[in-house]
Amino acid sequence: MKKGDILDIEITSSGMEGEGVARVDGQVVFVPLCMPGEKVRVMVREVSKKFARASVIKVLEASEDRVYPLCPIFYRCGCCDMQHIRYEKQKQIKKANVEACLYKALGRKTEVNDVVGDGRLFGYRNKIQVPLAKVAGKVVAGYYKGNTHKVVPFAERVREDLGACVMYERGMQDMLDAFLRYADAAGLDCYDEEKHAGFLRHFVARKVGDKYAVVVVGNGKKLPLEKKLIAELTNTGMGFSLYFDSNTKKTNVIMTEDLTLLYGEARLTADILGIKAKVSPLSFMQINDGVRDMIYSEVAERIKKSGDKVVIDAYSGAGVLTNVLAGSAEKTYGIEIVPEAVADADELTRDNGNDKKVVNICGDCANELPPLAERLRKECAGFTVVLDPPRKGCDERVLQAIKSVAPRNVYYISCNPATLARDLARLDDDYDILSVTPYEMFPQTKHIETLVCLERKHMMISN
Ligand SMILES: C[S@@+](CC[C@H](N)C(=O)[O-])C[C@H]1O[C@@H](n2cnc3c(N)ncnc32)[C@H](O)[C@@H]1O
Repeated sequence: MKKGDILDIEITSSGMEGEGVARVDGQVVFVPLCMPGEKVRVMVREVSKKFARASVIKVLEASEDRVYPLCPIFYRCGCCDMQHIRYEKQKQIKKANVEACLYKALGRKTEVNDVVGDGRLFGYRNKIQVPLAKVAGKVVAGYYKGNTHKVVPFAERVREDLGACVMYERGMQDMLDAFLRYADAAGLDCYDEEKHAGFLRHFVARKVGDKYAVVVVGNGKKLPLEKKLIAELTNTGMGFSLYFDSNTKKTNVIMTEDLTLLYGEARLTADILGIKAKVSPLSFMQINDGVRDMIYSEVAERIKKSGDKVVIDAYSGAGVLTNVLAGSAEKTYGIEIVPEAVADADELTRDNGNDKKVVNICGDCANELPPLAERLRKECAGFTVVLDPPRKGCDERVLQAIKSVAPRNVYYISCNPATLARDLARLDDDYDILSVTPYEMFPQTKHIETLVCLERKHMMISN
């Protein structure tokens, strides 16, 4: 097999990226946008010693699980990976991927629950972040075409309740449309990455409660004619705050810290399972409110039932989960490495009257968790550890501390099944896996969030 070859092949399984996988002369070939059971004509794009990549030229025999994508630009945009797959099948593929990672890491089959979600298959994202470009004299919003920086404009809206990008709900689109009307009326030009010239870079909006935090990112110090934009946004009839983000750097980073409030409240307030969270456009928040709440509630409920009175929430971000869990325990410790996030967590803790129940620690979990866990082992009858690390998973020192201190209950929330499985293998001698539940945080994409509930295997003699 060599680059440029045209082959007719059969897809026999799915890969971790939501793509189809075939074997040709014993070699694995990854083929995006197709699925098991399909016969496809492909062009080979890349061949390495271990695998090859190919792209579909023609579907020769389609699977009965192939559907028309709702989004008219799905095949060009490259942001979703699985819209062409019937939703039930998407869930099966994601579940099988979690099972496969666990099998590989643990060397045995592990029971995985069916994928659960909140039922929203589209319009679930609470944040829109889109590049802007000028096409035929008009400012348009769109997406970068897969692996390029060419903006693909959104197509017309296909459903009343959704945005032109079907991952967003209608209100977000109304905000975007108001902004585009302003941009054209104000005669603004768009940023050209290669020339590092032009003004408008990105439009960012986040839905917080029933209001929108709108951010215009521009290559300059000031947003021209801001009153016109405020008037357009006001005409939508929806509540909003408006900010200008000055990004004059030659960078792929979308937003900088150079954020100016132009209208409305500096931070909008979200109610997350009874916790009031003031959200700035720069705060980290999960993208899917409904599914986030399902995961947080499940963990909170289990902790309440376990009777453990103390919780360590490791990798705690802006402290939302830490404060939610404060409702299930007497004392909760959050550990987070980003100082700004810890400052937000401190404020959140104060605003929610949890000063006596929540301690937010700023530092690396690898350094902070081992001594804290050791102290809690000595001080309290039982405590729980919640892990919600970034994609790379937990530091070995965190897992070692859990093994040696051996809290009875550990909950692991993960956005990466491969590192989750690796970490579970490291805990395998000491912990039983009680349940593995994939949560559909990102329908139509390859991504999956997983909650694993673990229980210590052997009762330890506590001091
Ligand atoms: C997946 S987020 C979880 C956030 C939070 N639990 C939530 O639900 O909003 C992972 C967090 O871990 C933080 N982080 C990354 N590496 C860390 C480390 N070594 N020690 C502590 N926190 C870390 C990141 O800054 C990020 O806020």
